Amino acid sequence: MTGHIVGIEGTAHTAGVGIVGPDGRILSNIIDSYSPEEGGIHPREAADHHSDILPDMIDRAMKEADLDRTDLAAVAFSQGPGLGPCLRTAATAARALSVSMDIPLIGVNHCVAHLEVGDLTGATDPILLYVSGGNTQVIAFVNGRYRVFGETMDIGIGNMLDKFGSTLGIPFPAAPVLEAKARNGGELLPLPYSVKGMDVAFSGILTSAARLHEKGASIEDLSHSIQETAFAMLVEVTERALAHTGKEEVLLGGGVAQNARLVEMVDIMCRERGASHFVPPPPLLRDNGAMIAYTGLKMFNAGAFISIEESGILQRFRTEEVEVTWR
Ligand code: ATP
Ligand code: FE2
Repeated sequence: MTGHIVGIEGTAHTAGVGIVGPDGRILSNIIDSYSPEEGGIHPREAADHHSDILPDMIDRAMKEADLDRTDLAAVAFSQGPGLGPCLRTAATAARALSVSMDIPLIGVNHCVAHLEVGDLTGATDPILLYVSGGNTQVIAFVNGRYRVFGETMDIGIGNMLDKFGSTLGIPFPAAPVLEAKARNGGELLPLPYSVKGMDVAFSGILTSAARLHEKGASIEDLSHSIQETAFAMLVEVTERALAHTGKEEVLLGGGVAQNARLVEMVDIMCRERGASHFVPPPPLLRDNGAMIAYTGLKMFNAGAFISIEESGILQRFRTEEVEVTWR
């Protein structure tokens, strides 16, 4: 058994190790998230968490896939974008494995991996609505490149939801708690709907929601209103990207896509346009090593390797910068 690819993820608070076979089948996908005692993510502490557990996670992933290290053809890792200390630990683990097994190293763009793994859901050429803690982007493959059609001009949607929750004393991650509260909310309170061209902004919602809360608005109504407003902005930009590119599929990616109301709103928009939408299962939606391994396999087949010297992390790795030689 040869030709397997291991993928190592570590752009933010999640460490992940996944293995795919030469046919692209996922054989293991081990995920372990660092959760801070309080407040948001501390990059240094998250990185310590990753470096403590990554070696063991690699062993567990190998065991689960029933493989020896000699079955590995290459090691892929998330080279960026992300938090410097976290990226460095994932890169270090990947380099160590590459050197010790004498197998090539593959540097994967994390955002692109969310798109590529959509294959496994049946999507063929989608617009990716990528919504996580730190990232909010609408991405598609057009004219030989991955292009960002729209993105947040300030904070990621997940960060906005988690920050609002933390002002109410809800521990990280607060967004799933707000989703539950929103189901009991009725009144749609006015919040800034901020779409400029193809871009969105969320910090205005955060400020206004905090003000309304001080004035006595209920958590339920606020959660409902924040979700309706922010998700409508995302759906508008996604729909415009569909219209602009002529594509007929929407793929969801990122942890916020676990939100049932967001999925429902995307579903309604797609049905009205005759488009289809695809939602990966949660272990492929949130940050994970399998999507890095899966993208790594495509890059491996195209010979897209990097040397140790070229394997420095890219904290601001832009989606458009990716040299696509495998599509
Ligand atoms: P990235 O490094 O790509 O920005 P991340 O570190 O934020 O990713 P993910 O696992 O993709 O990791 O996403 C986590 C985010 O998803 C958190 O902000 C979390 O609150 C949010 N989230 C999780 N469940 C839900 C939900 N049901 N509704 C809305 N947001 C959710
Ligand atoms: Fe992500």
